[in-house]
Amino acid sequence: MTTTPAPQRIRSSDRVLPHPPYRIPFLGDVWDLHVTDSSQWGMRGAQRYGDLYERNIFGTRVTYVCDPKLLREINDDTHWAKFLGVPIGTLRTVARDGLFTAFNSEPNWAKAHAILAPSFTATAMRSYHATMQARANELIEHWAGRSDRWVDIPHDMNKVALEVIGRCGFGYSFGSFDRTDPHPIVAAMLRILTYVNRSAYSHPLLERTLHREQRTRHLADIDYVNREVDSVIAQRQRDGAGEHGDLLDRMLTAADPETGQRLDPENIRYQILTFLAAGHETSAGVMAFALHYLSIHPEIVDRARKEIDEIWTGDELAFEQVAKLRYVRRIVDETLRLWPTAPGYFRKARQDTMLGGKYPFQRGEWVFIVLLQLHRHQLWGDDPQRFDPDRFLPERVRARHPELYRPFGVGMRACIGRQFAYHEIVLVLATILRNYDLTPDPAYRLKVKETITLKPDRLRLKVARRS
Ligand code: HEM
Repeated sequence: MTTTPAPQRIRSSDRVLPHPPYRIPFLGDVWDLHVTDSSQWGMRGAQRYGDLYERNIFGTRVTYVCDPKLLREINDDTHWAKFLGVPIGTLRTVARDGLFTAFNSEPNWAKAHAILAPSFTATAMRSYHATMQARANELIEHWAGRSDRWVDIPHDMNKVALEVIGRCGFGYSFGSFDRTDPHPIVAAMLRILTYVNRSAYSHPLLERTLHREQRTRHLADIDYVNREVDSVIAQRQRDGAGEHGDLLDRMLTAADPETGQRLDPENIRYQILTFLAAGHETSAGVMAFALHYLSIHPEIVDRARKEIDEIWTGDELAFEQVAKLRYVRRIVDETLRLWPTAPGYFRKARQDTMLGGKYPFQRGEWVFIVLLQLHRHQLWGDDPQRFDPDRFLPERVRARHPELYRPFGVGMRACIGRQFAYHEIVLVLATILRNYDLTPDPAYRLKVKETITLKPDRLRLKVARRS
């Protein structure tokens, strides 16, 4: 007689994973928690404990994954769903149900995604191209007076990226190249992100007492930023929406093709805040990291310039020429491999599941995908720490495990701005390389700063007009 096997009972208590030594009752691995460089710490943990491990923080199990085999399951939207985690969850106080921080179940996510997706196709980039090129030219002019002086690279890359998203998104200029101090909205947003990053792991009581002043400032910042964004929306409504061809126009005039519904004004505010934050810090960080690698690899600069000089023949770089800059694109891909500026993402189990046939996860339990280590996995071959754009030659990409490279996330909640970011970054890097020589500071050692996204800390380069 044959018997049917009893359904497997999934209990998270049966899940035994490698973890840091010296676990303490109740406190868990709290001694091993790094708040200011949590993503890099997640990477180091994986290097010590393996592709799947956990830290227990006051009873909360944080599972870290960078095993491409397991990611085949986790990256499948039907089994695992986006989870905000910490500190992105804390960002909801600011961006609410904007695209990035919306819960999967919130109707505004599907609505906004359907309305805004057409603004991010490869062909939609054509309408942003001239605006992006003009911002890159502004940078070139800005550097003209700084020849042979040290330039704060992350700072200037932030300026370009902010002007790009400000203009392409909302027809708004922050005047970044004309000011020495950041625009008040930018300063407020930076403080908001810093506060969110720091307070994400704190207790609310601590915030209301010990950090009361900071919290009051934070709430005032949110209030201020909301008012400013609302006034940009109101101004556009007065000017007449629909004439500008930017994101804001689309938010105000387009309807979800399935339901015919439009975005409501409050949600538009959260979308603008989302695009301002998601659309500039990440791209700026990639440009800054890329310039660091270019400054120390003259042989890569030579190859990139050869390509740029061959393709960019007129005064301006034409829209179609950007996609032809394949080597520059490989530089961007390799930069995003070593330093995915959004260094990971969270997923939670949609139902009880046995991950990899071995590890029980109950419905709702979540994991953090450690992109920093996935992108340095041994499957990348010899010396994954080495900067080598040729890893992205088409035949090498085809030969690779498909889950090894996910700088823009995956599935329905993957980055909507991917094409935008590539177009912008390739264009800006090509413009810089065409016009400037970069000299590194011989004393500089790459140190990475985390404020939700990643940046090369205190990177400065000397820039000199190319003769
Ligand atoms: C190189 C630059 C960028 C990187 C590395 C990056 C990375 C990511 C990642 C990893 C996610 C998914 C997060 C998750 O699954 O939880 C994401 C989502 C998102 N990104 Fe980007 N991003 C970049 C540029 C941009 C730009 C330029 C924009 C807008 C102009 C943008 C807008 C968004 C939005 C709105 C989402 C949320 C999408 C959704 O959940 O529907 N990103 N990004």
